[in-house]
Amino acid sequence: MGERPVVQYAVEDGIAVITIDNPPVNALGAGVSDGIVAGVDRANADPAVKAIVLIGAGRSFIAGADIRRFGTKRETPARRSYDALEGGGKPVVAAIHGYALGGGLENALCCTWRIAVPSAKVGLPEVLIGILPGGGGTQRLPRLIGAKAALEMISTGRHVPAPEAKALGIIDALVDGDLRSAAIAFARDVAGKPLRRIGEMPPPAAEPGMFEMARKAIARKARNQKAPYHCIAAVEAATRLPFTEGIAEEKRLFGELENSDEARALRYAFFAEREVARLPHLPKDAPTPEIRTMAVVGAGTMGGGIAMSCADAGLPVKLLDASAETLERGLRRIRDNYAVSVKRGSLTQAEMDQRLTLIEPVESYADIADCDAVIEAVFEQIAVKEQVFAELDHAMKPGALLFSNTSAIDIDKIAAATKRPQDVAGTHFFAPANVMKLFEVVEGSATAPATMLAAMKLGRAIGKVSAYAGNCDGFVANRSRIPFTMEQNLMVEEGALPEQIDRVMVEFGYPMGPFAVNDLSGLDVSYQTRRRRKAEDPDYRMLPVPDQLVEMGRKGQKTGAGWYRYEPGDRMPHPDPEVARIIQEVAAENGIAQRAFSDEEVLQRLLFGSINEACKMIAEGKCLRASDLDVMWLNGFGFPRYRGGLMFWADGIGAREIYNQIAAWHQRYGARWAPAPLLREAAEKGGLLRELRAPQLQ
Ligand code: 3HC
Repeated sequence: MGERPVVQYAVEDGIAVITIDNPPVNALGAGVSDGIVAGVDRANADPAVKAIVLIGAGRSFIAGADIRRFGTKRETPARRSYDALEGGGKPVVAAIHGYALGGGLENALCCTWRIAVPSAKVGLPEVLIGILPGGGGTQRLPRLIGAKAALEMISTGRHVPAPEAKALGIIDALVDGDLRSAAIAFARDVAGKPLRRIGEMPPPAAEPGMFEMARKAIARKARNQKAPYHCIAAVEAATRLPFTEGIAEEKRLFGELENSDEARALRYAFFAEREVARLPHLPKDAPTPEIRTMAVVGAGTMGGGIAMSCADAGLPVKLLDASAETLERGLRRIRDNYAVSVKRGSLTQAEMDQRLTLIEPVESYADIADCDAVIEAVFEQIAVKEQVFAELDHAMKPGALLFSNTSAIDIDKIAAATKRPQDVAGTHFFAPANVMKLFEVVEGSATAPATMLAAMKLGRAIGKVSAYAGNCDGFVANRSRIPFTMEQNLMVEEGALPEQIDRVMVEFGYPMGPFAVNDLSGLDVSYQTRRRRKAEDPDYRMLPVPDQLVEMGRKGQKTGAGWYRYEPGDRMPHPDPEVARIIQEVAAENGIAQRAFSDEEVLQRLLFGSINEACKMIAEGKCLRASDLDVMWLNGFGFPRYRGGLMFWADGIGAREIYNQIAAWHQRYGARWAPAPLLREAAEKGGLLRELRAPQLQ
């Protein structure tokens, strides 16, 4: 038997049905566009055919162009499906389920009618991968729904649910039941009606100043990027140019973006976020247990945030705390958090009420015994964790999965408090747990593959990005950040001011500089951690500048001063000469010479140590792939997405140059800069850092 064609053709009841069948998401890969053209031509040539239906097989209509083909040499087709669909003499009905995104929606916009099932989603998300809609979307969508609504969709890239798309005028009818039959019936109905071609509609009007305002509104978020501005320019062109000229302008702008650095980085991030879900070192036949009911132990800030994440995803969750008072306080915090979302308009009151019904407060382990999985989120102290896990071991039904939200404690020690270490894994959330996307899944030495797979799946089910981490101090994400934080503080001792370092990182693309972030989260927690570490390890390097700030009561925004000073009622950080004075004093006391830093040196001192650490973790098998680390930095630490991630960015500089610099700093600053052997190897062989993989994947 030959392979199934990616586009199939059938005629039913005088209606030609063109079916895209290119799993998993019907991307417009090789042969799809040609197949549509051939189908449309065949239907137009057949007098028995009155109208045409374009539909997708499987789970979606069309998810867009095949992203893997961008940046590669492609043949320009003799005719594009867009022209064939819009240019024929018979009506075409796009029948949409799943997703109609990018080139998918653009094909649908070339059809005469669009119908959809209510669960479908449509959108032009090209901006999110650093390009713009290049199949006429920037010219047709504004003509169909007006420049303002189109601009909003194209510049945010958001997925619009079918009912909203109907209200906007993108979808002509919502249909229930079998989509194919409904589309055929719809097509029979409209056969013979006059054809409306969006490409023949006049340019839409634009409100005065609209495009200027749009540019201003994105200035902060779109820093260093071209695609968001090109999207605006393309829609602007739709409002002032005839259609064919607008299409030519769209093509020109698209051409400027396809191979841009930001587009390459964003495409890489897209695929890295899919790759991170795979754990190829585990046996292929390992089962993935279903988690239908959850429990969270500990109703503090973290536990409450985790419970919210579950409820947000529709997963019932029992929230356990031994103290009724803590439980009540935790629930109040959850209600307050939801109430803020309702006030902001991102959640309706009904949704809030529904989510609250999913969170059930309980006070005893017996109440959670039947849950499929439990996440412990109690105080970060080994003795406390061991006690909770002993209780869980005693109470939970056999096969229940026992997860710990520890950020620093050895998972093997926690697992050893139970008689079922195979069911124990770490699930490390980042604060605030209901907001941050990163979800590290930590494998202990006894963790069963099924436990790992279930935890990875749980993360995705609650809207997070699950990433594997081996069991080591700090796990992967935080361990990779330690050199960054260390250099941030050491550079200050050597004469770089917090405001310079913050400016460099904001210009690089971070939403905030690291010192402003420290002030926001409070300087006292890391102060306490340093004290504890010093008590355990006399060689531990203390940080006298932030220590002194905390001892003076400068604990960050909450005390009106930290690395910066703050005006009452204002979160704007103001550089403070007092801090400069403290730095001078500390440097003098410790005999540290002061000097000026170039912006480039600041950036490299902050990031190169983390690249080096990443190489060590990959060699140790703690981090599976360099691209996993990139996903962690994008979703956990605010690294600018249009730079791909730490290791992708590093390749822009090159392993050799990074190695040479690190080796030089090793000479100058000592052991903390010892180059990782894997980095040296990549430098010698000229390999790409982003392609480094752990030994167990080779
Ligand atoms: N091209 C190539 N592969 C794609 C793809 C695309 N457009 N969309 C999805 N895939 C692949 C994924 O890589 C993944 O492959 P894998 O199984 O080997 O890892 C598989 O399809 C399933 O994807 P997801 O895991 O993401 O599935 P979800 O169900 O979670 O999400 C989705 C589905 C919302 C469609 C999501 O995949 C998505 O957002 N895709 C990208 C959509 C997009 O950006 N479209 C615009 C493309 S650019 C364009 O059309 C240009 C035009 O204007 C000319």
